[in-house]
Amino acid sequence: MSKKVYIRTFGCQMNQADTEIITALLLDEGYAMAGSEDEADLIVLNTCAVRENAVEKILNQLDQLRAKKRRRPELLVGVIGCVPQYFREKLFAMAEGIDFLAGPDTYRELPGMIVRASQGRRPADFTHSIHETYAEIEPARPSGTGAFVPVMRGCNNMCAFCVVPFTRGRERSRPLRSVLDDVSRLASSGCREITLLGQNVNSYHDALNDCRFPELLEQVGLAAPDLRVRFTTSHPKDISPDLVRVIATTDNICNSIHLPVQSGSSRILSMMNRGHTREEYLDKIRMIRDAIPGVTLSTDLIAGFCGETLDDHRQTISLMEEVRFDFAYMFHYSVRPGTPAAKSLDDDVAKEEKKRRLAEIIELQNRISAECHAADIGSVVEVLVESESKRSSDMLMGRTKTNRVVVFGRKGSEPGDLVKVRILSATSATLLGEQA
Ligand code: SAM
Ligand code: SF4
Ligand code: F3S
Repeated sequence: MSKKVYIRTFGCQMNQADTEIITALLLDEGYAMAGSEDEADLIVLNTCAVRENAVEKILNQLDQLRAKKRRRPELLVGVIGCVPQYFREKLFAMAEGIDFLAGPDTYRELPGMIVRASQGRRPADFTHSIHETYAEIEPARPSGTGAFVPVMRGCNNMCAFCVVPFTRGRERSRPLRSVLDDVSRLASSGCREITLLGQNVNSYHDALNDCRFPELLEQVGLAAPDLRVRFTTSHPKDISPDLVRVIATTDNICNSIHLPVQSGSSRILSMMNRGHTREEYLDKIRMIRDAIPGVTLSTDLIAGFCGETLDDHRQTISLMEEVRFDFAYMFHYSVRPGTPAAKSLDDDVAKEEKKRRLAEIIELQNRISAECHAADIGSVVEVLVESESKRSSDMLMGRTKTNRVVVFGRKGSEPGDLVKVRILSATSATLLGEQA
């Protein structure tokens, strides 16, 4: 009987997409997917190291898995992804019960590593590759209306606070042909929406074909005109007039852009090595809004970065008020050893103060999100149905092209349908309506 594997995925969408690649690799080797951890012969944690609490979460998970291993000594536990790439072999000593460690560029080696792990040899591989994109592996995607299409890996930006350039290595792009083939396959398999993925998706560059992100996006949009096309995460410095034109003129490319700003203070942005000022960011926002009517913008924000004064914090608040993001992922700064900030800047904002600033940012964002959503009340929006709502099987959940979540009464529609919904009420997170 084939061995069963269960994979738990943490962190960003890149990690979710990697899990789909690993699943494909392991299925190909004769493994079966376990329905639960209790059925599994092998449990794999695909991990995230971006913030301190992300790592704590993995260590807690390993604590829980130790009890399982005591009951079933033959159970193998592997830790893969960004945490092992960041801590390397030290991770074996940080938590008991780990049988193997693998970094993000080594997944093709997993089958061999699992065999060595079952012999008690505790293999570990952290090799970085400047070529690996897993381009020809067809991911084993879960069924659903949407699919991730990874187009590039790694990051060359070296933002001072960030572990990603260390955990994911240098930027490299998947060849245009391989992306287009994947998209065509998805289009003919009933998928309704794709999200092009990269840590820094708009710095995509297939050097062999001299194809950059605007061209890739346009070609993907044209190759699959019936699919909605999204992309994430964009870096402000790589938002070009060309890219904005493609979004504005290609009908099926969604008019929502996730554009992390991190801080509203040019002084802090420079210390963060973000490569742009507050004014340059605001100029890009104006360019986007002028060219793409109705576009929604979202962002990432960090409260309490090294040296952040109250005045810097107020500039973040004022930038939020000026841009009016539809939503934001908001964090307080946590030092990541080995990063440029950890090496050369003082983490001098007290934890309590970081939390206070973060709470202020969250409160403001909730108010702005609620106001943005309230503006949709009374209008009719087009919704791509994704699933039943968590609240009730009589309700469906879907998204607008602007990435707003809509919950509405079922009336015979199914996931995958495009329906018109009249918006009746709104919260900071959701629009509520009825089929028009
Ligand atoms: N590549 C994207 C970008 O350029 O913004 C996202 C990178 S990161 C995976 C996602 C978010 O985590 C960042 O945008 C940042 O807001 C946050 N983040 C990264 N490092 C952090 C740290 N040390 N402390 C707090 N938040 C952090
Ligand atoms: Fe991290 Fe900056 Fe790269 Fe985003 S662009 S992954 S924040 S280094
Ligand atoms: Fe985390 Fe690695 Fe993604 S550190 S955010 S899983 S690239």
